[in-house]
Amino acid sequence: MKIIIADNYEEMSIKAANIVAEQIKLKPSSSLGLATGGTPVGMYQSLIKMYENGEISFKDITTYNLDEYIGLPENHEQSYRYFMDNNLFNHIDIDKSKTNVPNGNINEGQADAEAKRYDKLISNAEIDLQVLGIGGNGHIGFNEPCDIFNKNVFAVKLTENTIKANSRFFNDISEVPKMAITMGIKSIMMAKKIILLASGKEKSEIIKATIQGNITPKVPASVLQLHRNVTFVLDKEAASLL
Ligand code: GLP
Repeated sequence: MKIIIADNYEEMSIKAANIVAEQIKLKPSSSLGLATGGTPVGMYQSLIKMYENGEISFKDITTYNLDEYIGLPENHEQSYRYFMDNNLFNHIDIDKSKTNVPNGNINEGQADAEAKRYDKLISNAEIDLQVLGIGGNGHIGFNEPCDIFNKNVFAVKLTENTIKANSRFFNDISEVPKMAITMGIKSIMMAKKIILLASGKEKSEIIKATIQGNITPKVPASVLQLHRNVTFVLDKEAASLL
């Protein structure tokens, strides 16, 4: 397990972007697993700059996003598809047909079928590099704390903690979807290489539990201790309790 500690958010973003850029240069046809949330936005901005400077090209890259809310159309400002288009895909030379996000424009009754479809896709994907953020309760993707590690892509009921945390992006907490589709822990652990980004004091306790605590599904990210090639890219504040 590697830990990189940056001075601040900007530096964390650049260091993470450098790891992704290295992967793209090494293998221009890489499959990348991508994450949403506030944390990776700076990394995506750095990657866009590198593309604009001619340092990297995404034209042969395929992407697979971790998760998506159920019940939001693609053009909803809080859907993860919209997030990815606006924060990355619309600004680079990627072939949009090679960008995969679970389809969230479904009702809860259709969720299991969509999870199955996405699972098949992920199982055949061979992700070279998976980018992760982390929820305050230790979730990765939308693998919420629970009694067992979920394996494959599945439809999940979000915890109150997550609904509350993510309500900052919506007008009202009642608008936050109650369910999502997410890669499971096995889908994530299959990636050849993983980087997890975390920034800010609010993440310091969960980062300590993830890296130095017991491996338990109560802290889903703690399973990363078992991965053979994982790098935590943290800013000083997120790393402050290590
Ligand atoms: C969401 C996403 C996660 C993300 C987490 C943290 O719930 N499903 O993939 O890691 O939020 O978000 P943030 O980076 O905004 O703290």
